[in-house]
Amino acid sequence: MDTTPGFSATTGEETLDPLDWADVQVLSHRIVDDAVAYLRDVRERPVWREMPGDVTDFFTSPLPQSPTPLVEVYGDVVDKVMPYPMGNIHPRFWSWYMGSSNFTGALGDFLAAIQGSNLGGGNHAAALMDSQVVDWCKQMLGFPASASGTLVSGGSMANIIGLTVARNTKAGIDVREHGVAAIEKPLRYYGSDQLHSCHRKAMEALGLGNRALRRIPTDAGLRIDIAALRAAISEDRAAGFRPACIIGNAGTVNTGAIDDLQALAKLAHEEGLWFHVDGCIGALMAIAPENGHRVAGIEWADSVALDPHKWLHAPFEAGCALVRDASAHRKTFAVTPEYLESTPRGLASGQWLHDYGLQTSRGFRALKVWMALREHGVEKFGRLIDQNIAQGHYLAGLIEAEPALELTAPTSINIVCFRYRPDGMPEEALKALNTEIMLRLQEEGTAAISDTTVHGRHCLRVAINNHRTRREDLELLVRETVRLGKEIMAGVA
Ligand SMILES: Cc1ncc(COP(=O)(O)O)c(C=O)c1O
Repeated sequence: MDTTPGFSATTGEETLDPLDWADVQVLSHRIVDDAVAYLRDVRERPVWREMPGDVTDFFTSPLPQSPTPLVEVYGDVVDKVMPYPMGNIHPRFWSWYMGSSNFTGALGDFLAAIQGSNLGGGNHAAALMDSQVVDWCKQMLGFPASASGTLVSGGSMANIIGLTVARNTKAGIDVREHGVAAIEKPLRYYGSDQLHSCHRKAMEALGLGNRALRRIPTDAGLRIDIAALRAAISEDRAAGFRPACIIGNAGTVNTGAIDDLQALAKLAHEEGLWFHVDGCIGALMAIAPENGHRVAGIEWADSVALDPHKWLHAPFEAGCALVRDASAHRKTFAVTPEYLESTPRGLASGQWLHDYGLQTSRGFRALKVWMALREHGVEKFGRLIDQNIAQGHYLAGLIEAEPALELTAPTSINIVCFRYRPDGMPEEALKALNTEIMLRLQEEGTAAISDTTVHGRHCLRVAINNHRTRREDLELLVRETVRLGKEIMAGVA
């Protein structure tokens, strides 16, 4: 009898299934045990570490031609991958803006892959769950039940969905049929100078071009200047452009600033513009008892991008686009080729979920979000958001109390911008010093923070989107930043 894995001795046909399921079961149990320990002990490991040469070399090995036993393959994952993560599941990871994942979500991803459904649509349970998670997102944000939505890879794609529906609705022609070249007056979109870079990519991909997105100045709180926005819209109209869409920020990436969403919604309504909210950071604040008021007006938006892989801590990837006018949403993307026609019964009698976005095949993203929401309940996620925001303000207080540090932007929610600031040091030298502090914090494995420049001033940036962070972690960050600042100033390598 042939014992090659995946080879059937009776028919001679091959499969990827193991020959001996019992072996796979034993190894799988070990993998799950290792995974539980990995997450349980995450606090004991460095946040990040540089990979040694043998690890980087390992990833240049050629395409495998012949089989390797799974236990050996897993051994390489254990040695070469698991010790060198990005670090965002660690309690002291606060770089850029990421969620910190969760074990239940990881089980969801595993089970989604095991069940293997394609969420292009159809009549099956995973498709119903996908729609249910979209419905839950609508409920969390106070969107009407009649709205539509779709789960996508993340916030960037969710923004593209919203901005595409905006373009097709406001263009004044059938863009799908005739293309952007046929639009009579060039479209204009508006957002603050704090917009995330994904909007630029979206404008480029939509064929409208980067310059069609006017960046409006922000006030001292990094919120869009509404008077300047109003003036820009009328200036553009007078100059022969067609103002089409206002993008509001519910939490900017640099500082967490929240635009006045109610004022933006009213202005968009008065001017006949589409109102899209980039809520990748802050839309889910709507479920936080102490901070929900900050995003009042989000429920008036025509479309919203939100990110379950941020404040719902879903393992990557999970974003969601919501659109108030379900028919405008469907009209923007739906195509029914002859090989994807619906049937009155059977597998193709369910909704085609690919009619609401650019992908045809779609992963089963809903399960990881659904399982974690069921396990913990939405109220706990709301409290965790409040907890992160309180931690942001706690850190801001620690920084204010420390003479060697200064805050460089107002702390609105969970993002804190600050720098180490010795007296009389010029801006360029301050940037070099603070960059060095940031790199040493990473290299020593203490904490992962990132940097940015806000209104012309470089600073370190701590974004606390992390359900594992404790106040003591933030106290350590402040102590270590000051220690490193002094050490670098003293010329210690
Ligand atoms: C405000 C904002 N918009 C959009 C995005 C892009 O989201 P994603 O990385 O999920 O594509 C981010 C990412 O941090 C963000 O902070």
